Amino acid sequence: MEKQPLLELKNLKTHFHTDDGKLTAVDGISFQVKKGEILGVVGESGCGKSVMSQSIMRLLDEKYTTEYEGEILLHGENLLDLPMPNMQKIRGNDISMIFQDPLSSLNPVYTIGDQIKETIMLHQKVNKKEATKKAIEMLRLIGIPSPEKRMKEYPHQLSGGMQQRVMIAMALSCQPKVLIADEPTTALDVTIQAQILDLMVDLNQRLGMGVIFITHDLNVVSEICDRVIVMYLGQVVEETTTDHLFSKPLHPYTKGLIKSIPQIDGDRGKELHMIEGTVPSLNNVPKGCRFASRCPFADDLCKENAPELRMLEGNQKVRCWHIEKILQEEEGKYDITS
Ligand SMILES: Nc1ncnc2c1ncn2[C@@H]1O[C@H](COP(=O)(O)OP(=O)(O)OP(=O)(O)O)[C@@H](O)[C@H]1O
Ligand SMILES: [Mg+2]
Repeated sequence: MEKQPLLELKNLKTHFHTDDGKLTAVDGISFQVKKGEILGVVGESGCGKSVMSQSIMRLLDEKYTTEYEGEILLHGENLLDLPMPNMQKIRGNDISMIFQDPLSSLNPVYTIGDQIKETIMLHQKVNKKEATKKAIEMLRLIGIPSPEKRMKEYPHQLSGGMQQRVMIAMALSCQPKVLIADEPTTALDVTIQAQILDLMVDLNQRLGMGVIFITHDLNVVSEICDRVIVMYLGQVVEETTTDHLFSKPLHPYTKGLIKSIPQIDGDRGKELHMIEGTVPSLNNVPKGCRFASRCPFADDLCKENAPELRMLEGNQKVRCWHIEKILQEEEGKYDITS
């Protein structure tokens, strides 16, 4: 039997009411995260990855600026219908988030130790002494030297990389069902990054934690993700397995992202491929395909009409008018129906 999703987004839209009018930063996103699965989210800056994560946690200002549509289902319950106190219980218990900006989730007036201990005691049935031991273990696990000493320090006494590690320790120590990691390792050096990814994958496999992993680093995607969604200007343009993302990317935008991965052993002197042009702004969303202005396949149909996300064989979903043309071009290289 097909595994039930832990978390499911159904046509989620996030609108901001601004001086420029209503801007839709997340425009009809649907996906599922199953137990023990790591879903990668990729796309250029500004395509709505962080707004989508903050929407799932309901961290945006709902009173004045933000309006949601659609559904965010956790075990079948729509989080968008929950009163805020109930939502607060979900955060950190069922869904935890590692933010792009570490300081935003550390409390400046409490020591690192107190903050991690509190999180552990809130979520696991342990006393203060055991919580202290676990907190020290957790700090050691994510590569913080002299953890006993660090426990007594305040967030501002730590470097950015250390703060990020503490935040990751806190998010993981409550053993959430779903972890949203928004570029969690960008400020860290490669060794620490690798250790933290290992830890995440370990919890994901041991406890069945579902992970939404947002990153610009496609090499990390290839190492840890099971499936991937590619976002462009608030929408999903392709959803596929990690294997297919690299072996048969279909959307012209995905192809561009894959080509832009730096090849360490690539041809010397060969220029790094960049997707030409820029992402259109939210107050000037094209009426046709949002990628048309940068797409080598674009024609009048694309400029005038917005394509739907189409399901292909092998559960690959693509939002493009010219899939047949692209498949023909690739013919011989692979067979999408296999
Ligand atoms: N509070 C807000 N009010 C209005 N617009 C916003 C608000 N927050 C974000 N946006 C806009 O929403 C869009 C998506 O932003 P978001 O931060 O989600 O991008 P991102 O994909 O996370 O980018 P990055 O890779 O740089 O982190 C951007 O155009 C951003 O300017
Ligand atoms: Mg972001």
